[in-house]
Amino acid sequence: MNRRNLIKAGVAGLSGLLVRGRKLEAQEAAPPATPSKLPSSPRHVLSLNRNWLYGGKSVAGSTRPDFDDSGFQRVTIPHSNSLFPWHSFDEKDFQFVSIYRRHFRVPPELRGRRIFLDFAGVMTAATVTLNGEKLGEYRGGYTPFSFELTAHLKWGASNVLAVEADSTERPDIPPFGQNIDYLTFGGIYREVSLRAVPDVYLENVFAKPVDTQSDSHRVDVRCYIARPSGAGAGALRLKVELRDGQKVLSSASQEAQIAEEGTLVPLTNLGDIELWDLEHPKLYSVTAQLYDGAKLIDEYATRIGFREARFTSDGFRLNGKTVKLRGLNRHQTFPYVGAAMPARAQRRDALVLKKELKCNIVRTSHYPQSTHFLEACDEVGLLVFEEIPGWQHIGNQAWQDLAVRNVGEMIRRDWNHPSIVLWGVRINESPDNHDFYTRTNAVAHQLDDSRQTGGVRYLVNSELLEDVYSRNDFGFPLQPPNHPLYLNTEFVGHTFPTKRYDNVDRAMEHVWRHARVHDQLASDKQYAGGIGWCAFDYNTHFNFGSGDRICYHGVSDIFRIPKPAAFFYKSQCDPKEEILLEPCFNWSQGDESQGGGIRKATICSNCDHLKIYEKDRLKIEVDPDRATYPHLRYAPFVVNLLNLRLEDWGDLRIDGYINGEKVISKTLPGDDKDDQLRVEPDDLELDGDGIDCTRVVLKVTNSEGGWRPFSSGAVSLKIEGPGEIIGENPFSLSGGAGAVWIKARQSPGTIRLHARHPYLGAKVVEIRVKAARPEVI
Ligand code: GAL
Repeated sequence: MNRRNLIKAGVAGLSGLLVRGRKLEAQEAAPPATPSKLPSSPRHVLSLNRNWLYGGKSVAGSTRPDFDDSGFQRVTIPHSNSLFPWHSFDEKDFQFVSIYRRHFRVPPELRGRRIFLDFAGVMTAATVTLNGEKLGEYRGGYTPFSFELTAHLKWGASNVLAVEADSTERPDIPPFGQNIDYLTFGGIYREVSLRAVPDVYLENVFAKPVDTQSDSHRVDVRCYIARPSGAGAGALRLKVELRDGQKVLSSASQEAQIAEEGTLVPLTNLGDIELWDLEHPKLYSVTAQLYDGAKLIDEYATRIGFREARFTSDGFRLNGKTVKLRGLNRHQTFPYVGAAMPARAQRRDALVLKKELKCNIVRTSHYPQSTHFLEACDEVGLLVFEEIPGWQHIGNQAWQDLAVRNVGEMIRRDWNHPSIVLWGVRINESPDNHDFYTRTNAVAHQLDDSRQTGGVRYLVNSELLEDVYSRNDFGFPLQPPNHPLYLNTEFVGHTFPTKRYDNVDRAMEHVWRHARVHDQLASDKQYAGGIGWCAFDYNTHFNFGSGDRICYHGVSDIFRIPKPAAFFYKSQCDPKEEILLEPCFNWSQGDESQGGGIRKATICSNCDHLKIYEKDRLKIEVDPDRATYPHLRYAPFVVNLLNLRLEDWGDLRIDGYINGEKVISKTLPGDDKDDQLRVEPDDLELDGDGIDCTRVVLKVTNSEGGWRPFSSGAVSLKIEGPGEIIGENPFSLSGGAGAVWIKARQSPGTIRLHARHPYLGAKVVEIRVKAARPEVI
């Protein structure tokens, strides 16, 4: 049987699973229902992620309340409708309509309120049925949606919610209609909650900092109030506050209008405020309270940051200072589960981009991504270019209407994130379409006049209806900017796919290609900067990528493990933040195409001088390659090591200097060998909520901790305690490394993960699981 058949037959591969939704995870017992005693509060948002029943492919009658779901599998949201090996699977396996059911009772205290069911994201369309009544279908896999349940609920009895998730590639919904080079995956892959609000309630709040660079700074807080049609409006008042932690910095109150354009409540006299910037991303909170007479009936809280972000003819300016944008595109997918990763994994990507890859911007290619990711971008100071779903294709009028709706949904969801500096309102790399893009731009400008619009094109001279000319330029040298406000949104990518364990010549060429684009971008202030393609390798369709369902376009692999090109990005940070010295080769590796040694050994570093020793004898001194990269602040070092190899081959030591002072040193063993298996969890503590998870990197290293790119071996995993393995078991190391994720079950305790390599022995790591707050319903 080949590998694919083995996986389908469920006898090997992913821990305890079968593809197509039969037995995707080990079944967890339902925890005992907790008696509800909700604290008194004007609104309740109750998470509804546990104890869903998943039935795989939807069959006739499966939305009926009396349908027998006793054979369904108990799952926790976010959930992927199928699990996969990390590559070489059939992308048809997630393209089906699945059925999810949830039995619930609404806490009696909520009687009399309006009850909404909020979905953060279901791929790609969701039909929601409550107690046998179909509430409707929402089309779109990347934007949130709600259904009001109030009129259909049973009080004091069990309700049956049924969600059919249509994860087929429906041509009526963006991005579909033609080929796309990434996978959307399927299922209820973002969180669900139940929201209880009064009859008249706060639907949204846009808290917009204004004049942040002057003493007259203020926050324009626009409150959107909803009420059932026909309900009379009483004397409603709004009270709005700006807070720093618990401290109230400013407050204002005024009569509320129930109008489409909301009610504007300016907050002034803020006193000294700290700006949100890349180094100190200071966040404040804004709360809006809605009063009916003297009675508080609803409240809404959000976070903001004070910053001015503008693309100008002098490049991008943040708080008046020019910042050359250096970033990467991110797809939201992960190995094994597609996009169905919980908050911790989403947040970690923002950290990787900012702290490990030292980017200052990310583009959420090609759709709105998890709010957990965006919140982390706010917190770490990572700028964001967020765009609507789509890829190259523009559909018919109804399709375009959906895309226009997506613009509004994206902006209304995300307008308070200080990290977002540009709204992408074109379908990525689509042809011009005057009417369509006039509409998308109008919606963006009307909803949010504080941010510019962009829209990613590949055509050199396409019609500009946006504020910023953002274009994918995969050529080299790059085209000169053809507009004063110009941002390069993609380069390298498919023009030089590189695997983490590719031949050293290719890996270094990958580094140079990214470096020379950034060098050219640094040469002209009119380039606002560049966002390379891309951060992480991603799963794709059969007709793209390397034939194993992966586009190897990342500077890191699909497990988020860096390739040498990642070292270039990393090395561009100020040494005050971190001193870096990253050789892009393995000293003992001798398979360069020219044979015999590395003539252009590349070292990415923010040092200004390197001394290279072999067997502790100084052999070479080298400065950054400023001839090739005259504009980069930290040009890579390129050095001919050929002769060193021909001499008495021993350990290579590289010492890095800044202003004449030795600041860092690295040794690459001459007789490099596999020394140990490392098992490295990103986190040592998880929440016992049935979904929280952490990545565990498995890799073979030499005695110095250096990665061994051609090591292999199947690492067998065994787990004890309240956890599950998301991933392949045994895991066959690919290029000496890889990763699985460990997911917490719904009980506290200690997870022990045992990993055994065929010849490097065994390791055990422990991860604590703490008790999570129970779900009320
Ligand atoms: C671009 C496209 C990206 C990705 C990239 C690969 O044309 O916008 O989504 O496919 O090519 O290099």
